[in-house]
Amino acid sequence: MLKYIISTACTALMFVAGGAFAAGGAGKVEDTQFSFEGPLGTFDQEQLRRGLKVYTEVCAACHGLKYVPIRTLADGNGLGYSDDQVRTYAADNFEVYDADLDDMRPAKPSDNFPENVDAGAPDLSLMAKARAGFHGPYGTGINQLVKGMGGAEYIAALLAGYTGEEKEEAGVTLYENTAYPGRWISMGPPLYGEDVDYDDGHTNDLESEAQDVAAFLMWAAEPKMMDRQDAGFRGVLFLAVLSVLLYLTNKRLWAPIKHARKD
Ligand code: HEC
Repeated sequence: MLKYIISTACTALMFVAGGAFAAGGAGKVEDTQFSFEGPLGTFDQEQLRRGLKVYTEVCAACHGLKYVPIRTLADGNGLGYSDDQVRTYAADNFEVYDADLDDMRPAKPSDNFPENVDAGAPDLSLMAKARAGFHGPYGTGINQLVKGMGGAEYIAALLAGYTGEEKEEAGVTLYENTAYPGRWISMGPPLYGEDVDYDDGHTNDLESEAQDVAAFLMWAAEPKMMDRQDAGFRGVLFLAVLSVLLYLTNKRLWAPIKHARKD
């Protein structure tokens, strides 16, 4: 039986390792300390707001966010904008197709962020989760478990990982990127630093912008992360209290019998 389990585990590991190699080897991703990591982590509201700005002013030109409802920008555990601010943001930045009007109209909070397929760029709604498990030795995801490294780290590393080298292949320009598995990506460097002006006066160098938009995309992919952690934390607390109570109840219930034996 043990032999069987070990050989199955080895086969599974080989598949995982094989997958990573087939993809051209994992790219280089550094660990970044994001505020939302760890069991008690929370989203940094100012960082999410900066990230939204980077997304809106830079990434939205090519990437959609079609699964994210605009109204969630008002969520308290996320960006925490007021309903008025969300309404203004939606109307100022996006147009959506309205089937009733058979025409485009300014977006409303009840719309999702538009999709964008013009540049052949993937939708970013779930990207931070989709790229979460690609770290660790041979893509085993160990680093995610141990260091909390996930999709946000990958996105930050990707945006800051351009070497400046480019090449043409079958009419497509490819850019060398140390974080991208396979090293050559068809997205040109979207950020150089100082691409947006932050309202909160935070530095807007390349690293900060990359981390801010990565944090924002983590929120977009998992807006309920904090609620989930809260629920988990409360669950653990509840179980701890319950254990103590059960222990005391147990002692008290058996006390007469224990004493009876001694007599
Ligand atoms: C000029 C268009 C353009 C802009 C602007 C742009 N991207 Fe991209 N992006 C692309 C294309 C095209 C791809 C697909 C690349 C490929 O598969 O080779 C892509 C791929 C990606 C990927 C997926 C990489 C992977 O692992 O497959 C991420 C993440 C990403 N972009 C994030 C961003 C972020 C964040 C921004 C804004 C800071 C941004 N992009 C701005 C065109 C763009």
